[in-house]
This record gives sequence, structure tokens and C-alpha cells, in this order.
Amino acid sequence: MSNDSQQKRILVIHGPNLNMLGKREPQIYGHQSLEEIDGDLQARGEELEIEVETFQSNHEGDIVEKIQQVMDVFDGIIINPAAYTHTSVAIRDALAMLDIPVIEVHLSNIHKRETFRHHSMIADIVTARIAGFGSQGYLLGLDGLAKMI
Ligand code: DQA
Repeated sequence: MSNDSQQKRILVIHGPNLNMLGKREPQIYGHQSLEEIDGDLQARGEELEIEVETFQSNHEGDIVEKIQQVMDVFDGIIINPAAYTHTSVAIRDALAMLDIPVIEVHLSNIHKRETFRHHSMIADIVTARIAGFGSQGYLLGLDGLAKMI
């Protein structure tokens, strides 16, 4: 069940190593820091009159617990599980419990990279996927989600 209050709420989850954006392989992930990306998401949220909460963790269990708290509170999720995209049954199972739209975002086009990145553990349970637009992908996800909720 989604949040019943008038104010729509979206949670953005960033997985491991995304706290290093800006410094981390900028040729792949771009020059924007996570703080800047989160700031852009907050600003776009204000324009859309949607409350945006952002969360980053390098720990799988913390991400699972955050997803468990989403029920009845948020109307949608944008998630970049980062490396856990390719490995985490636990994050998949947590997302599968939700009945709100989930948007999977990747900065890079994971299908154009090493073969181990081609498989996403969540691709078949999410509502929509965006990859290869860099940090712009989060904003595209937010715009798309805003129209769904
Ligand atoms: C990523 C792609 C993953 O393969 C990688 O482990 C990341 C970031 C992306 O946003 O392009 O950390 O999810």
C-alpha cells in the first residue's frame, strides 16, 4: 500500500561506492558528486511538488532495511544498487515485497561494459530501467515516476 497523504514521496537509494562519485572513474561515471546529484533531485522534486528523500549505503543489509521501511511511507523508489545490482538476491527480495513503482537507474550503460555487469538481479521485477544517461538518468527516473504516482 502506498502513502495515503496528499504529499507524494519518493525515495532514492544509491548503492556502494556511489558516495565516491566525482572522484570515482569520472570517465565512466561523470564529474558530478553524489551531493550535487542529490541536490538536483531535491530541486526537481520541489518543481514537481514531490518530497524526495535520498539515501546512500555501502552495506547490503542497510539497503535491505531501508527498503523494508518504505512500505506505506513512499509512493515510489528510484534505486541504483551499483555493484549489488549484479549479485544481491537480498535486495531483489526486499524490492519484490513492494507494491509501488520501482525505477532502476545506472549512470553507465551496463550492457556496453564487462559481461558480469550485463545481468541485473532486479531487471525482471522493476517497473522501468534507465542506463547510460549519466547523472541525468536519476532526473529522467524522477520525471517518469512523477507521472506514474
Ligand atoms: C553502476 C554500474 C555497476 O555495474 C557498478 O558496479 C556501479 C555503478 C552504474 O550506475 O553505472 O557501481 O550501477
